[in-house]
Amino acid sequence: MSYYKIENLEQYFKAYKKSVKSPEVFWSDIAEENFTWYKKWDKVLEYDLTKAEVKWFINGKLNIVKNCIDRHLNKKGDKTAILFEPNNPEEPTQHITYMELHERVCKMANVLKDQGVKKGDRVCIYLPMIPELPVALLACARIGAIHSVVFAGFSSSALISRINDLDCKVLITSDGSFRGNKSLNLKSIVDEALEKPSSIEKVLVVNRTGTEIQMKEGRDLWLQPLLDKAPKDHVAEVMDAEDPLFILYTSGSTGKPKGMVHTIGGYMVYTAYTFQTIFQPKENDVYWCTADIGWITGHSYIVYGPLLNGATTVLFEGIPSYPDHGRFWDVIDKHKVTQFYTAPTAIRALARENLSYIENHDLSTIRILGSVGEPINEEAWHWYNNHVGKKQSPITDTWWQTENGGIMIAPIPYVTPTKPTYASLPLPGVQPELMDERRNEIEDNQVVGSLCIKFPWPGMARTIWGDHKRFVETYFTAFPGKYFTGDGALRDEVGYYRITGRVDDVVIVSGHNLGTAPIEDAINEHPAVAESAIVGYPHDIKGNALYGYITLMETGEVRDRDNLRREINQHIASHIGPIAKLDKIQFVSGLPKTRSGKIMRRILRKIAEGDFSNFGDTSTLLNPEIVEEIKDERIEG
Ligand code: PRX
Repeated sequence: MSYYKIENLEQYFKAYKKSVKSPEVFWSDIAEENFTWYKKWDKVLEYDLTKAEVKWFINGKLNIVKNCIDRHLNKKGDKTAILFEPNNPEEPTQHITYMELHERVCKMANVLKDQGVKKGDRVCIYLPMIPELPVALLACARIGAIHSVVFAGFSSSALISRINDLDCKVLITSDGSFRGNKSLNLKSIVDEALEKPSSIEKVLVVNRTGTEIQMKEGRDLWLQPLLDKAPKDHVAEVMDAEDPLFILYTSGSTGKPKGMVHTIGGYMVYTAYTFQTIFQPKENDVYWCTADIGWITGHSYIVYGPLLNGATTVLFEGIPSYPDHGRFWDVIDKHKVTQFYTAPTAIRALARENLSYIENHDLSTIRILGSVGEPINEEAWHWYNNHVGKKQSPITDTWWQTENGGIMIAPIPYVTPTKPTYASLPLPGVQPELMDERRNEIEDNQVVGSLCIKFPWPGMARTIWGDHKRFVETYFTAFPGKYFTGDGALRDEVGYYRITGRVDDVVIVSGHNLGTAPIEDAINEHPAVAESAIVGYPHDIKGNALYGYITLMETGEVRDRDNLRREINQHIASHIGPIAKLDKIQFVSGLPKTRSGKIMRRILRKIAEGDFSNFGDTSTLLNPEIVEEIKDERIEG
């Protein structure tokens, strides 16, 4: 990637100015210079943000997998594309070269075609972090099918609702998954999901753990024998730049999760460019992002961004605490990792462990450290800087979202001076704006406003699958003509952005984006529960944790409260997934409501935080007396 390479601040400002003044020239230069297209686009950009209609590289024809793999084969065929580090450190590492990846992807593509998957069909992927996962993504993209990865920690209900939202024909899963010293029977979760009516015709099963599983005749097939028989050549499908590449769900503040649709051309250009700019790959680098491919970070910065740049990307199956808390440092040392990209929640957890875990390892190969998923607090930033980066490697605090496709605001390592807790400056092509409640732009420093983006960028999601109206309402209505991120932010005197957190009912727990509404819906289905309200509160390790206020049905039956708490959490785990469990559950006799019946979450949030100083205006409350009761019975700790 040679165009608009940024090696100093002057080049940054020059590129930034160009990207604002002539966005079409800026992005078409990058798109033309760095990728293989079957046919060039007729027009770079068409958009109307009030209708949330955006198209990039109109009528351009391409296949993203040709760009991720095939075009590297001549020069980099023997280079490791994917370095697979298994959960168990005793199990050998796999070095999958670009040549081998090509063969594996082509074989998988042929298997999918054989199973009747066609261009435009949706394929659901429910797999742990094993090589078959990126191979499955790339195989779908190669044949023009749309992949939708469901994080393997999600429950059967979450899985089936996503499958049916998309009418997926085929599901790719495994018998089980390893996680530290435990293994999880994934296939049984799939079986439970598919007890409900669904569009799934075939389930392809990877043998990973050897766990005993049920195979349903006519529906379930072991993948390996099919791969063994499949031809190793496959002609990549010719796709339009605006054809969907994948759908990934993200929680919203209301109702069901939103299937964000990303399209091929813009996403390719954006992830490749941002990977190059932020992670600055060199020929012998080993790049490692610890995210799961079930989230957008894994899509963009384990699979697409690195492969589009011909990099070596680590795929890690395990967890940071197995076999001990030195695992991350061990992997960095063993593979001489040069760029390391992780989440603040992992940093905070590891910072609590003995420093000897780090000191026993050589981390001197690291050149760039990344952080993503939630605000990184000052203490965690310094620990990361001092002990992992040894004050030598810049930390890039990257702010972006599932909806964005790729990194939006972040310091460019060795270019943008870092400032803890500030995501700093927008990347070229990104035009942020802070808005006040009256929809006026905030010009002043240190004033928190709603973070919006006022101009399209190639990586932005194009719609919510099957519900464009919701897409418009969620992102383009609060501030007409702009994309509203749902985050609050402020700017300092030099123009650095600091993200202050969500301004809606989404809580970021351990870097996972959780809408409170779907959790409340799940809890309310429990027969003992009348009503519930969930809020986030600060937590040392997770960043935020969930606090639930719950009113019970008046049945006259007295239930053991701790049992009920366990049952409610179990209920959440099976409806959504264990990540959405509540840390604290307070049973209350009522919730503070306005006269129009709206729960006043602001007050509940303050009580959960232990801040009783000022509840603001409570005059609209129908039942102000409840506030005292809730406050008095708050769960401490
Ligand atoms: O609130 C912001 C927070 O994570 C949200 C997006 O979550 P998700 O779509 O799951 O994508 C996460 C990975 C890209 C944002 O709205 N967030 C993400 N990165 C940061 C952040 N908050 C502060 N600083 C960050 N670097």
